[in-house]
Amino acid sequence: MSAKIYYDSDANLDLLKDKTIVFLGFGNQGAAQAQNLRDSGIPNEKIIIANRPDHYAEDAKSKGFNVEHDFAKAAKQADIIFLLIPDQVQPRVFNNEIAPNLKDDACIVVASGYNVFYKLLNFKPSQDIVMVAPRMIGSSVRSLYVKGKGFPCFVSSEQDGTGKALELALALSRAIGATKAGAIASSAREETAMDLFAEQALWPNIIMLFREAFSVLKEAGCSDEALCYEMWMSKEPAEIFERAAEDGFIRQLKHHSTVSQYGQLNGALNLDGSAARAHFKDILYNQVLNAKFQQEFSKIEDDLEKEGDANPLEILYQKSEASELGQAEKRVRARLAGLLAQ
Ligand code: NAI
Repeated sequence: MSAKIYYDSDANLDLLKDKTIVFLGFGNQGAAQAQNLRDSGIPNEKIIIANRPDHYAEDAKSKGFNVEHDFAKAAKQADIIFLLIPDQVQPRVFNNEIAPNLKDDACIVVASGYNVFYKLLNFKPSQDIVMVAPRMIGSSVRSLYVKGKGFPCFVSSEQDGTGKALELALALSRAIGATKAGAIASSAREETAMDLFAEQALWPNIIMLFREAFSVLKEAGCSDEALCYEMWMSKEPAEIFERAAEDGFIRQLKHHSTVSQYGQLNGALNLDGSAARAHFKDILYNQVLNAKFQQEFSKIEDDLEKEGDANPLEILYQKSEASELGQAEKRVRARLAGLLAQ
């Protein structure tokens, strides 16, 4: 299955002419996307930053944007509204303060599929719902745009109330700089499935493999320092992934020694992946796609704002850092800080 890729030539910026565009949130993505859009020629007076009074609002003001603290007032004016506040906050804010005040033909833009796929936002059937989801942190969305480069981005129309949803999504993608390098046709389902799969299946396994590898090598007499540097502090894994993006996931191995190439390729081929595959399928179908995780996560969302041990994320950090790897790294970093202070 190959996906369609959209470029600048597929997008018509004229569709945005005379539209009032509201950014709900001026954080990582909001600040980057609003500035890119303005620099693409959307007049400043047609852009409103809807933000509660906080340092993000001050940042928007300092950059010359019009800031509106009253979300209902901003929503009433919006032809297009980007939802760029944290995913877990969106349902409450959108459903209570934005949705009741939006125009019937407004276009709502999400940068992640989560709330759309799990149907947590109340839209009217006449409205357009589109996804423009950069695969980059906000600071890179901005810096790549400033350098005249594009960035990878997923784009989709999730609900076509006006008959122009995809065209609008493409125009907005171009305005934030996403079609310069090619925006990939996707969907909220695909984006959510891949994102949560990576977070709940792939990376937990990688963390577990590092944790267990660390303990085995430590038991064999390797020092904390040698292990931390060998395994990640040298930044070798980061370089390997950089090479994988440039040269190919397998082909990057050509940069390693012959012993290393042979060991890695032969070792991986000899591993039976069937248990991992079954585990991965279980997470994908019985945790992500069936909304089990989302339903459980929504029950603890409020606790994530709490301080100390009342915050479940804090407990997970404590348990993870209690591992041999976590404790050893703490010692190494403390020794390094001591050396630097001398
Ligand atoms: P963020 O954490 O930077 O959001 C901060 C903004 O949200 C600020 O404007 C703040 O005033 C506002 N905010 C926070 N809590 C609020 C509340 N309770 N009520 C009202 N406003 C509140 O958000 P970020 O990371 O930019 O994420 C926005 C969207 O972009 C999400 O859907 C996320 O999944 C998506 N996304 C984020 C990426 C990233 O680089 N962080 C990458 C790609 C997509």
